[in-house]
Amino acid sequence: MSERDHKVSRRQFLSYTLTGVGGFMAAGMLMPMVRFALDPALTAGAESEMHYVTDLDDLTDVPQRFTFSFDQQDSWYESTVEHEAYIYLDGDEVVALSTTCTHLGCTVTYEEDDSRYHCPCHGGLFETDGQNVSGTPPLRPLDIFDVQVEDGQVYLGQVNQR
Ligand code: FES
Repeated sequence: MSERDHKVSRRQFLSYTLTGVGGFMAAGMLMPMVRFALDPALTAGAESEMHYVTDLDDLTDVPQRFTFSFDQQDSWYESTVEHEAYIYLDGDEVVALSTTCTHLGCTVTYEEDDSRYHCPCHGGLFETDGQNVSGTPPLRPLDIFDVQVEDGQVYLGQVNQR
């Protein structure tokens, strides 16, 4: 073999260099885009945080409406989110229900007279435990919050469908 066989030709050198530089530049452009697309998935844990709402002593077996708010980071956008919940005691258990009607999203109101939540929009009704009353528009119960009680304080987390 001659010495000339081991040398890289000018064409090969340019090809390797351009491929390397091109790959490096492509990775530099793609990384931020991939990071941006995945960001909500990477920060999904924030949604399951618990937030103080009230003291356990304030609760009775009659649902009461509470408003609570917390700061939320959505990718690079930070905002204050406000939630409402009807909270009551079912024996020793704390139950927290969403105030949002499961028909089309109006806000329900608890009426102590007939122990039901009433929706003002289309006459939807829910029992005290949030079960939808058949024959009215909502087809599923009110959503329910994750609840945590610690040192006599009630914390609410994510709201879930039932
Ligand atoms: S939005 Fe509540 S019944 Fe339609």
